Parts: sequence; C-alpha cells; structure tokens
Amino acid sequence: RPAYDLHKTVVMVGMMGAGKTAVGRALAARLGVPFLDSDAEIESAANMTIPEIFERDGEAFFRAKESQVIGRLLDEQKGILSTGGGAFLSETNRRMISERGVSVWLRADLEVLWNRVRHKDTRPLLRTPDPHATLRALYQARVPLYQQADLVVDSDGETAIEDMVDRVLEK
Ligand code: S3P
Repeated sequence: RPAYDLHKTVVMVGMMGAGKTAVGRALAARLGVPFLDSDAEIESAANMTIPEIFERDGEAFFRAKESQVIGRLLDEQKGILSTGGGAFLSETNRRMISERGVSVWLRADLEVLWNRVRHKDTRPLLRTPDPHATLRALYQARVPLYQQADLVVDSDGETAIEDMVDRVLEK
C-alpha cells in the first residue's frame, strides 16, 4: 500500500500522559508517513534527557528549543508530529501549528492522565511535593488552550492504541 499523501503535518497536542507519542507513532505507521517527536528531537540534539535540560538550563531554555524544533520539523517534511504537553501554550507555536499543520487534541480526564504519569520520573514539571495537585493545576490552566486545536479526540485510558488511531482518522 502506498504511503498516504498528507497535505499537512498532523500535530498531536495535549497533556502529559494523553498518549501523544504512542498514538502519533501508531498513526504514522498506519499511514506510512514519517513520525516526528519534538521532545525526542530536543533530547538528541542536546544529548541530554528532558529532566537534565530543565535542571541545567531551565524551563525557558527548553521552551525556546521546543519552538525552534517545532518550526524546523514543520518546515522539513510532512508527517505526524507529537509535541510535549506544553508546546501548545505558546501563541507562536499555536500560530505555526495552525498555519502549517492540523492540530489534534488528545483529551483525557485528569485521573487517566495521573494514572499514566504517577509512576514515572521523566516529567520535571511534576517533581513537586504534591505532583497530583500540580498536574491538576496544569490541566485547568491548559484546557482552554488545547480547546483551540482543530480536532479533539477522546482518550479514556482503556481504548487500545489502534482504536485511538481509528478515532483520529475518523475525525
Ligand atoms: C511538558 C511535557 C513533556 C515535556 C516536558 C514539559 C509539559 O512532554 O515536553 O517535560 O509542559 O507538559 P509529554 O507531554 O510528552 O510528557
């Protein structure tokens, strides 16, 4: 089967734990198009993990890199682009994404997200005394921005990844 002819890059947005990377990668495989991941690009360019970048250079530095990388990936080739959970907060990023891509918000309830991230130590923003409260605060602040995405796909935390891919394709 020939690769799908994408007209725009499909950009996965939403909270940490929503499944942007897992669903994005499976969607790219299904369509036979490139899978792009802004967090992975930042890590390999810096040769550091995201927690290390936050610790050494701070969040502002990470956000600047994130914008650069998203701009470059949108320019280079069309594909499925998974972004970090904070990427859609920047107006500049939202503008780049809406001009050159189609954004898909993977929406999940707070408790679904919490159950996915609670046992991991890969999210520097959750290294706080009360990470559940931190996640809730981020969620409440970010939902109004994610609502600006072009499409919304619900993730209940139990649906298989391939079924999530079907839901994205239906939209
Ligand atoms: C962040 C989410 C992370 C990563 C960084 C900041 C955020 O990506 O970009 O830790 O601000 O929500 P995931 O959404 O893939 O966890």
